[in-house]
Amino acid sequence: MVLKKMIFVAHVMLLLLVTITTTIQGCPDNCRCSTTPVVMDCTQADTTNLLTTIPTIPNAAVQVILDNNRISTINENDFQNTGESLVYLSMENNSITSIGQNAFGHVTNLLVLSLSRNSINRLDQNMFIGLNKTSVLNMDNNNIAGLECGTFAPMESLQYLRFAQNSLTSVASCTFMGLSRIVSLDLS
Ligand SMILES: *[C@@H]1O[C@H](CO)[C@@H](O)[C@H](O)[C@H]1NC(C)=O
Ligand SMILES: *[C@@H]1O[C@H](CO)[C@@H](O)[C@H](O)[C@H]1NC(C)=O
Repeated sequence: MVLKKMIFVAHVMLLLLVTITTTIQGCPDNCRCSTTPVVMDCTQADTTNLLTTIPTIPNAAVQVILDNNRISTINENDFQNTGESLVYLSMENNSITSIGQNAFGHVTNLLVLSLSRNSINRLDQNMFIGLNKTSVLNMDNNNIAGLECGTFAPMESLQYLRFAQNSLTSVASCTFMGLSRIVSLDLS
């Protein structure tokens, strides 16, 4: 009888431990997570380094919000373990200056990407490889002065492109090459 009780207690403790571990792995400190659908909201979570946050993104995450942090770069492999479920990624109001080649090459089902309120000063088409389903790109409030030919060529599904509040001085006509579905373009 005593043994049975002990085994029961041990089972309960194991269950608790598994639950606690799952929670910690699935949702980093200072973030809020929900399960249906899987949303990870790390707004103002004091995150400076993607390397510590991104690997903890649950594989089934549909929406990830990393707004109001101090992330400074997006590197090529930051999202390599993020699942294909991700459709919405917001990294507004960080300190992003550069985006690595192929940085989003692993999140190919992304529909919405918002990078507004950062300090990005340059874009080229290699940064957008894999984003051929993305329909919304928000680049408002960055420091982009010029756009190269074919910058958005990999984003063949792009419908809404926001570029308000940048330092655009010249935009070549070939910049928007390949964007046959564009509905709205804001360069104000
Ligand atoms: C931007 O993020 C900082 C924290 O990093 C926050 O204090 C500030 O209110 C945010 N700005 C906006 C416009 O949300
Ligand atoms: C995106 O590219 C992949 C691989 O090249 C292709 O299989 C898929 O059909 C493309 N999707 C769209 C919406 O064009």
